[in-house]
Amino acid sequence: MSNANAQESVEIAGIPEMPDVTQHLVKPNAPVIGRVHATRLCTRSRKAAGFVRHVEIDVSGTALENSWHSGQSFGVVPAGETADAKPHKLRLYSIAAPTGGETGDGKIITTTVKRMIDEHWESHKLVTGLCSNYLCDLNVGDEVQLTGPVGKRFLLPKDPSKHDYIFIATGTGIAPFRGMIHDLFKLGMPSRVAMLMGAPYETDLLYHDDLTAWADQHDNFTYHTAISRHTTPDQPKRLYVQDRLSEDFDTLGPMLASERTLIYICGLAGMELGVYQQLARLLSPEQLAQYLSVPEGFAEQVDQWERSMIPKTLKKTKRMMLEVY
Ligand code: A2P
Repeated sequence: MSNANAQESVEIAGIPEMPDVTQHLVKPNAPVIGRVHATRLCTRSRKAAGFVRHVEIDVSGTALENSWHSGQSFGVVPAGETADAKPHKLRLYSIAAPTGGETGDGKIITTTVKRMIDEHWESHKLVTGLCSNYLCDLNVGDEVQLTGPVGKRFLLPKDPSKHDYIFIATGTGIAPFRGMIHDLFKLGMPSRVAMLMGAPYETDLLYHDDLTAWADQHDNFTYHTAISRHTTPDQPKRLYVQDRLSEDFDTLGPMLASERTLIYICGLAGMELGVYQQLARLLSPEQLAQYLSVPEGFAEQVDQWERSMIPKTLKKTKRMMLEVY
């Protein structure tokens, strides 16, 4: 038997039963019109390195009303036309609202959007993301064309109380977790939840005050931040979310060892490998196999792992959910 086959033969406990959810109720050729209900910065300070907004959209009376689950995405069709006079293509945004929306009646859908602002490397001209800046420029009352919902894997299980959760995010990757945490609160927080959040600076942490308050109010909710660009003589290396797994192993180790635990990762694509490597360093082979299937002997060479080994050689199990971009 080849190593790859050996990987597949391992049976793991705690595989979640996932819900059946509806997708594509509103198709790209016939978007519905929502109206901006609220828009605010969700960084900790106006001095943050990036501009990230929490945008709430009223979809009452449309086919999107009460249609989504936390963890799904919706489509936004930016106003205007392309250079060759065609409508713009839609862009997908993670839903930051809980199932049932901000007000519980399915009327208000939310996303967390970062302005894409860059400089072209050669021409040194300003480059601005079309849809992210369109969404961030919208004012309360403005109309916006929407589609969706989309996504059937990055969801809470059918019975969320059967599991505990380690949520790992960088930047706007926090969006789906905000919705899922609200959903768990609505159920009386039946699970242990650890939220690991990575940002370049303290000022760039998103929904930080809410997350801190929730950690104060709920014994089974913990919040762990990793600030990458605040290096000091004592901490000369960038601290990434995956480093939190080892730094806070006292809390997270018992969770990782438990058959109830599911790991969800959302944000920058680069963190996927980083998280996999950190799990391989921290866990016994049996514990690692709950989340990641690797060929025999591979865990010993963890420092040589590369991104190209995902997903053929480094295969996540059904206990790990991934949404990276
Ligand atoms: P860095 O300081 O190296 O850019 P934002 O979306 O607000 O820019 O935040 C993304 C966060 O994720 C930053 O702290 C960024 O650090 C960090 N990051 C970048 N690359 C990785 C990676 N490979 N693994 C984990 N975190 C990463």
